[in-house]
Amino acid sequence: MQSVGMRTHAFLGASLALLFGSLHAGDVKSESARASAPVVLPDPLYEQRAEHDPNGIGVFYFGREIAHVMGHQAAGWLERPDREQEERTDLLVEALGLKEGEHVADIGAGSGYFCWRMAGRVGGSGRVYGVDIQPEMLDILTRNMAKRGVANVEAVLGLEADPKLPEGKVDTMLMVDVYHEFGKPYEMMAKMVAALKKGGRIVFVEYRAEDAKVPIKRVHKMSEAQVRKEMSVFPGMRWEKTETVLPQQHIIIFRKD
Ligand SMILES: C[S@@+](CC[C@H](N)C(=O)[O-])C[C@H]1O[C@@H](n2cnc3c(N)ncnc32)[C@H](O)[C@@H]1O
Repeated sequence: MQSVGMRTHAFLGASLALLFGSLHAGDVKSESARASAPVVLPDPLYEQRAEHDPNGIGVFYFGREIAHVMGHQAAGWLERPDREQEERTDLLVEALGLKEGEHVADIGAGSGYFCWRMAGRVGGSGRVYGVDIQPEMLDILTRNMAKRGVANVEAVLGLEADPKLPEGKVDTMLMVDVYHEFGKPYEMMAKMVAALKKGGRIVFVEYRAEDAKVPIKRVHKMSEAQVRKEMSVFPGMRWEKTETVLPQQHIIIFRKD
């Protein structure tokens, strides 16, 4: 078993209160105005600031504050019965257009909410890697898969900066409400890109920072421009499209050339 990153341990107890809250007027304005043209890496890569949002860890990447990791204690919230209706997770899975036999990685899989839904789409010849950094989440995920009799999902204990996936093997990587929590987004994404097949995709699903009506705390939301800016440092990854079919989240898709 791999050890879980120190920073992550410190925030396992993060409650759902971290996710919900009011918006500040300047948040939306400044982010939506940012360009997504290719940029160079910040120097230093991560900036520590004493003054910061209490829902964030005080570390900034490309001017964005990284959020606390949602603790496994909140796994029940991920499985809440009204989630499908509220977030239209059915539309999300449909929009992925998964094919029989695909190898999919659910990065930051949590309780496995999306794992079994995707496992049904890729079938017996396909596979879903459910990656998380919290062993407790993976225990919940494993129990949930067993309860449903799902055999093509593999739980993978990742590290803060490494999903621990084989190189060049994955067709689709999904992150639902996860990327903004990465403690080392640059290193993590570099490993994810390496684990993708040529022609494979990385799919970001993030609460829309541009939309003041989405009732989620600022550091747990991301604008499309910010995601595209952060991805522009990976020249092998091309933005393909942004889907707007969901009520609260973007679906932002990048393809490996
Ligand atoms: C808000 S939950 C979302 C869970 C799931 N994607 C869903 O939508 O039901 C975020 C999850 O991402 C995980 N996570 C955070 N940083 C991670 C990292 N670097 N690698 C893998 N998982 C990570 C957390 O442990 C947590 O289980």
